[in-house]
Amino acid sequence: MKRLNIDLDERSYDILIGQNILSQVGEFISKRLEPSRSIIITHPSVRNLFGEKIESGLVNAGYASGVIVIPEGEISKSLQQAELVYDRMLEMNCDRKSTLIALGGGVVGDLTGFIAATYQRGIPFIQIPTTLLSQVDSSVGGKTAVNHPRGKNMIGVFHQPKLVVVDLDTLQTLPKNEFKAGLAEVIKYGIIADEKLFTFLENNTKEILSLNRDCLEYIIETSCAIKAKVVEKDERESRHRMILNFGHTFGHSIETLTNYTQYLHGEALAIGMIQAAWLSVETGECSENVPIRITNLLKKFNIPVHSPNLKSEDVISSMHHDKKTTHNKLRFVLVKNIGSVEIVDDVPELAVKAALNKNH
Ligand code: GLY
Repeated sequence: MKRLNIDLDERSYDILIGQNILSQVGEFISKRLEPSRSIIITHPSVRNLFGEKIESGLVNAGYASGVIVIPEGEISKSLQQAELVYDRMLEMNCDRKSTLIALGGGVVGDLTGFIAATYQRGIPFIQIPTTLLSQVDSSVGGKTAVNHPRGKNMIGVFHQPKLVVVDLDTLQTLPKNEFKAGLAEVIKYGIIADEKLFTFLENNTKEILSLNRDCLEYIIETSCAIKAKVVEKDERESRHRMILNFGHTFGHSIETLTNYTQYLHGEALAIGMIQAAWLSVETGECSENVPIRITNLLKKFNIPVHSPNLKSEDVISSMHHDKKTTHNKLRFVLVKNIGSVEIVDDVPELAVKAALNKNH
């Protein structure tokens, strides 16, 4: 088992990455916390797959454990769903030493984190991400949120988990398209910070797609280590943490303009990264070789690379509504080389339009 630590003073925590470690969650908790009880928040299908292992481990470690099951899908990331969970927690007499366990993907993690941050002014929580995307991104770094009808993640708070447990075995049952969408996020880490990771992905496509354990461990550990370093430097995203949003401004426009129905988040991100790389060519940041290399790697993994037919005016207007833009300026993370990016404010709309036309 690998152990990474994210150093945030009194909010520091471990990220444990291993195989067949879910039954040890109770032990991991007892080394770090003294919960009065633990409550797992999860989806029905995820509970069926992994709930038993974790629950029996918790009971063996001496913790009373309860489970709150929430419906699948983005629909659960809402204030209404949060209220239903608060009701259940109050019925269960949860107190300030109760610990929540988020078992699932990004929806479960973001909702559980939000509830943990707000229930009785904040209680501890643990992330057990079961999708590649949540293992390398949303479970680490303490961003929690629910959606508002007018925008994704509009209501939220920073609240770091006390522990993240990544069990590679959970990827064996993950649908292939979701696995590949998670790979887009891993590729992102190569682009923003680590050419060696990017080259590894280029050279080990087959092994990764066949879920070779050593490869999975390497790419997840490397991605989490990059994210941990970025978050350590700028926990609340005053600026540097924005590099984690490479490709996201374009990607969010695609998701918004297709009503979140056509693409998984990672798929929209993949197209967004290509567009951000072409924008970097437009602004003189890098040569054409960079977007071409990114496109080729995404294609190798069979991740969709063609953008939907959207009007560039609509894309730009949706970018102005994105919370990732401020003061009406179009700010982008641009790539200089694979492994190195910079944040550029006030990118001209004309350059954005030109970049959009490169990727049809
Ligand atoms: N997903 C980007 C971040 O955590 O900052």
